[in-house]
Amino acid sequence: MTLEKIALERKTHLKGEFAVPGDKSISHRALIVGSLANGRTRIEGLSMGDDNMRTLNAFRMMGVEIEEPGRGQWIINGRGLHGLREPENVIDSGNSGTTMRLLTGLLSGQRFFSVITGDNSLRKRPMKRIVEPLSSMGAKILGRKNGNYAPLVINGTKLEPINYASPIASAQVKSAILLAGLYADGVTKVREPSLSRDHTERMFGFFGANLERGDNSVSVSGGASFEGRDIEIPGDISSAAFFIVAALIIPGSEILLTRVGVNPSRTGILEILKEMNGKIEILNKEEKMGEPIADILVKTSHLRGVTIEGRLVPKTIDEFPILSVAASVAEGLTVIRGAKELRVKETDRIAAMTRELKKFGVAVEEFEDGMAISGREDLRGCECQSFGDHRVAMSLMVAGLRASGRTVVLDTSCIGTSFPGFKDIMLSLTH
Ligand code: S3P
Repeated sequence: MTLEKIALERKTHLKGEFAVPGDKSISHRALIVGSLANGRTRIEGLSMGDDNMRTLNAFRMMGVEIEEPGRGQWIINGRGLHGLREPENVIDSGNSGTTMRLLTGLLSGQRFFSVITGDNSLRKRPMKRIVEPLSSMGAKILGRKNGNYAPLVINGTKLEPINYASPIASAQVKSAILLAGLYADGVTKVREPSLSRDHTERMFGFFGANLERGDNSVSVSGGASFEGRDIEIPGDISSAAFFIVAALIIPGSEILLTRVGVNPSRTGILEILKEMNGKIEILNKEEKMGEPIADILVKTSHLRGVTIEGRLVPKTIDEFPILSVAASVAEGLTVIRGAKELRVKETDRIAAMTRELKKFGVAVEEFEDGMAISGREDLRGCECQSFGDHRVAMSLMVAGLRASGRTVVLDTSCIGTSFPGFKDIMLSLTH
């Protein structure tokens, strides 16, 4: 199989206005909760990336009717909490960790048998983090290496509630347990060391379920019922991040990104880039369907290095690859710490970005839980590698637009997992 590659030249003047595609995390939750709701849910702006299509297909396999009457408009005929049907084949999550982890929580409490698998990358990612707490709720899950790796085999059963203190701030772990908690008698509670993205909580609330939220904790009662709703998915801040950083580091740029989700559990990237002296303005902020949205105006800026650690890390978790590109051209040193989770994403993002940024001439030091990046005036065009990770691929493309000479990014078909059309949109805004 030949893998796609993309060649780029240095650009100036990233200009224009555009709406980034729907948020991937919120799209997963809309599909899941819409399928479990009573009645009809209409979705506008669903993310069309492969990851979301995996979740959509899984529900179709479980008997949920999902139609697309117009481009970007979806209708789900929800089957209620107990209306899913045994899938007749293995559910394939592809590259999508969110599909696998959230659905494993949900499948644990069904009255049927299911098997869930994923691609080469996902079958190497740790599942014990969900299998352990779910098993203590009574779930019957088997997997390779003592349940740590997919394929996972799930014998649905009656679950017990749990009061779980998660050792990691992970929305996937939290959400898997909350979904299982819907099928347990009593109150299921999850605490996390600091707040991870809270879209599941907001989506449950929007569909009318009773939730109790503490500082870094959330409880759900078994049997909560959802009512079908109309949803407009906000733009994905994690996709916007590539344009935000590109506009900050490409000379003469000014862009307006419209209707981007600015949920505070996701806006670490904005806080950090502003602290790096980025000219970023948040305009027209409003709340829709329990999620804050806003327009984001960005202008080329002289960035300065910063230190990132603590509560900012889970709020920025998917943005470290593109942040490391911003740090590569910032004045001074940027230090990232407490981000060991990056090692178990679609690829080991600490190792991948350290290795690839060095090819652009950047001085990078790798730590077990982060990296230190010495910014430089100019990046050197090079041939670099995504390791099959969509966010690494898009980050390296942005570096290539700022670098002198020619850059070739290898293995770019993975971009379709979250952002089909990324290259065309980015190139249409550059000059
Ligand atoms: C996601 C949660 C995050 C994030 C992933 C999407 C979600 O993972 O990295 O891309 O939709 O819940 P963790 O919760 O494992 O940190």
